[in-house]
Amino acid sequence: MPRHFLELSDFDSTTLSGLIAEARRLKALRGKVGPERSLLAGKVLAMVFETQSTRTRISFDLAMRELGGETLVLSGTEMQLGREETIADTARVLSRYVDGIMIRILSPAHLSELADNASVPVVNGLTRHSHPCQVMADLMTLEERAGPLRGLTVAWTGDASNVLVSWIEAAPLFGISLRIATPEAYAPKHDVVDWARMHGADIMLLDDPVAAVDGADCVITDTWVSMGTEHERDKRLKTLAPYQVTTDLMGRAKPSAIFMHCLPAHRGEEVVSEVIDGPQSAVWDEAENRLHVQKAILAWCFAEARS
Ligand code: CP
Ligand code: NVA
Repeated sequence: MPRHFLELSDFDSTTLSGLIAEARRLKALRGKVGPERSLLAGKVLAMVFETQSTRTRISFDLAMRELGGETLVLSGTEMQLGREETIADTARVLSRYVDGIMIRILSPAHLSELADNASVPVVNGLTRHSHPCQVMADLMTLEERAGPLRGLTVAWTGDASNVLVSWIEAAPLFGISLRIATPEAYAPKHDVVDWARMHGADIMLLDDPVAAVDGADCVITDTWVSMGTEHERDKRLKTLAPYQVTTDLMGRAKPSAIFMHCLPAHRGEEVVSEVIDGPQSAVWDEAENRLHVQKAILAWCFAEARS
């Protein structure tokens, strides 16, 4: 079986903590001459994008190059996928050409179909359901800034986006308390919250952002209009307006608290510029850490012999 990286809930905490430790090691070694430079020599990663990307595209590309591997960047619309070749057939064909597939595809069912039919590792580069590579970078950033993750309180305010789903899955694995403030219309789905609680997570679902942020170690939000929800834009902006991360809201968290956002951000919508561009913001480290953590993820995926 190839080593896929699909959802954080597929993993135990030892494996994920190990990946973050490896990411820290690779970060410290970046730019130095050493065996890491040829860790993935001879490997080719196909990167398939159904929707736009800046960070995922560049950080995966650089991760492969800096470890000695190569990439093929493919747009879903330019492939026969866009003319209705099945995902399963695409998976079988790509598996004959390349050593791994990173895909950004909105449908989580299509991601599963790809992984089920690929004989090479598949990495989830975002679906409308989840964004596990992003949250691995978030966890790495939080640990760098706030120390050991166990026992930290993370406050989420705004839309229950794909990034939040991966945070909910991470919470029990890392012993993080999550306080989530959303309007009812954009609250997280019960099944993912139930899964996390069943695995021991301390998760509070609230509708008041002030209550969520009070005394937190970290405040996180995401765009109010995720890819695939553009048709609801006006309704979302209106309903989510009370959940904006303002300086006042940030002031309710611990004085040492950090602000994170996966980016792209919309200043004046989910966060004011004083916060995202202010001293508590960790968003640039967070974006950089995508590179380091994805190196660790790719090295883990490729560590198994090709099946
Ligand atoms: N955070 C993130 O995944 O950014 P991109 O959409 O630019 O890849
Ligand atoms: N929730 C956002 C994340 C972008 C990286 C989206 O899906 O558009």
